[in-house]
Amino acid sequence: MRQDLPLFPPAASTGAHQVDAITYVWLVVAAVFSLLIAGLILYFMSRYRRRSEDAVGAPTEGHLVLEIVWTAIPLALTLGMFAWGARVFFFIYRPPSNAVEYFAVGKQWMWKFQHPEGNREINELHVPLGQPIKMIMTSEDVIHSFYVPAFRMKQDVLPGRYTTTWFKADRAGTFHLFCAEYCGTEHSRMIGSVVVMEPTDYEAWLSGAQPGQSIVASGAQLFESLACNTCHRPGAGMAARGPRLEGLFGRQVVLADGRSLIANEDYIRESIVAPAAKVVAGYQPIMPTFQGQVTEEQLVQLVAYVKSLAGTPGEGTPAVAEGATRAGTPAVAPGATAPTTPPAHPAVNPAPQGR
Ligand code: CUA
Repeated sequence: MRQDLPLFPPAASTGAHQVDAITYVWLVVAAVFSLLIAGLILYFMSRYRRRSEDAVGAPTEGHLVLEIVWTAIPLALTLGMFAWGARVFFFIYRPPSNAVEYFAVGKQWMWKFQHPEGNREINELHVPLGQPIKMIMTSEDVIHSFYVPAFRMKQDVLPGRYTTTWFKADRAGTFHLFCAEYCGTEHSRMIGSVVVMEPTDYEAWLSGAQPGQSIVASGAQLFESLACNTCHRPGAGMAARGPRLEGLFGRQVVLADGRSLIANEDYIRESIVAPAAKVVAGYQPIMPTFQGQVTEEQLVQLVAYVKSLAGTPGEGTPAVAEGATRAGTPAVAPGATAPTTPPAHPAVNPAPQGR
């Protein structure tokens, strides 16, 4: 029976064990206090019941030690609950720096995934065991929610922006994936599975499933076919009509209206679909929107490509973290106020594509 109706879903990630531990401990604490209080109520009801018509209780002046004890113990418990809960919260919401980035696009009514190697899947996500994986997610239409009970992980997936979550699976197997946000008629069928594989099996699956190019290579191809390179990577002797993108990710950008921001995935995505929203200082708002011309999956590829562009040495742009080719988590140079319009070095640019 337990197989058919488990009290808890399987726990298959490092985060799941942390969430379970805190849940179990506080269930026990709550049970102990509930029993203690209910027991005392029953005991006092009997002990101090009215024994005769004219009995009057003796006044009490209080009990200092007792009052300190019943204040200090719950205070310590609740502060402990806060500290432990905060620790688990930070663990869940801070992906480790070596997390590999996978992309998810929610759509009525399916989940579409892209691996860094370029493999794509629908309603099934294969991942290697023991590897921290950061999900970067967006929606094509309405709000969905990426929910894997075995990982104790649930994150809303919103149209028009990226949300992230992460997990490190520590048990091989196939686990349920749900959409946990009511998103229309077939919401309940927007389900799938996460398949956790031994790293060697995963490598075999990757190479056997879909040969092809990496997500960054797809982005590079789009970058040229959409002619992004003509403005963002001008050839020798040509004026740069758009800011250069090398080393952009994670860097501070000063905008034409004086605001500044750190270039993250949302900023890059917005700059493609709504270029006029945040124009870089020193440039004209001449870029056309690509809204409707690129799918969310292609946007993800373009974002991955721009993220992969390291600063060209000698340009004073902060270097992208070493070994970040797969993980793609460039370090932000502390206090970097690098110019957003680095001097052009046409010599290192590829020749303009014939157009
Ligand atoms: Cu998507 Cu519910």
